Amino acid sequence: MIESLPGHTSADGLPVIRRLTVADLPAIVAIEKDTFTLPWHHNVFASMLTKSEALCLGYVVNGRLTGYLIADMFVDVWHIMNLAVSVACRRRHAGSDLLEAYFEITELDGHRGHTLEVRVSNESAIELYRSFGFVATGVRRGYYSDNREDALIMWKEWEGDSA
Ligand SMILES: CC(C)(COP(=O)(O)OP(=O)(O)OC[C@H]1O[C@@H](n2cnc3c(N)ncnc32)[C@H](O)[C@@H]1OP(=O)(O)O)[C@@H](O)C(=O)NCCC(=O)NCCS
Repeated sequence: MIESLPGHTSADGLPVIRRLTVADLPAIVAIEKDTFTLPWHHNVFASMLTKSEALCLGYVVNGRLTGYLIADMFVDVWHIMNLAVSVACRRRHAGSDLLEAYFEITELDGHRGHTLEVRVSNESAIELYRSFGFVATGVRRGYYSDNREDALIMWKEWEGDSA
């Protein structure tokens, strides 16, 4: 797995995508609490940030973390486990840029594909994932414990070179 993100180098005022570190935890937790009705606990993020198989990317504008993507590899499938952009910074392509960076990195190594779960009511996220080639493959009934909402399962095949 590569350690730098080509095409995402820093320049004045321009956003940077980089790997998250434990120093980002307070900013991550603040965005998470503002975003989700079932926010991940600080310790869950802490353990993902120190897990070698996980991919944890941050979107930074003028030195401030405004979004993140957390993914983990299970056997031969990448699982996008968390994606969030702070409310004030949405609809400026941060989410798309994080996904592009994620695919830049994960497509380098062979695997079966990518999966994720998303609330069936979350039309903006579903639209975003569809625009990246994810398709709905099923539903997990009552997946979310706050309101027993169903989760849509989405899947995208690996598009890398299998030769
Ligand atoms: C989903 C989320 C990460 C998208 O981040 P973002 O930076 O706002 O998304 P982008 O600006 O990159 O949007 C890319 C595309 O996604 C779709 N999209 C994003 N937000 C949308 C909205 N509110 N309504 C409709 N489509 C939307 C559009 O197709 C958009 O393209 P366009 O702006 O050219 O029309 C962000 O809305 C968020 O943090 N939501 C709350 C957390 C969440 O739902 N995470 C996903 C859990 S699985």
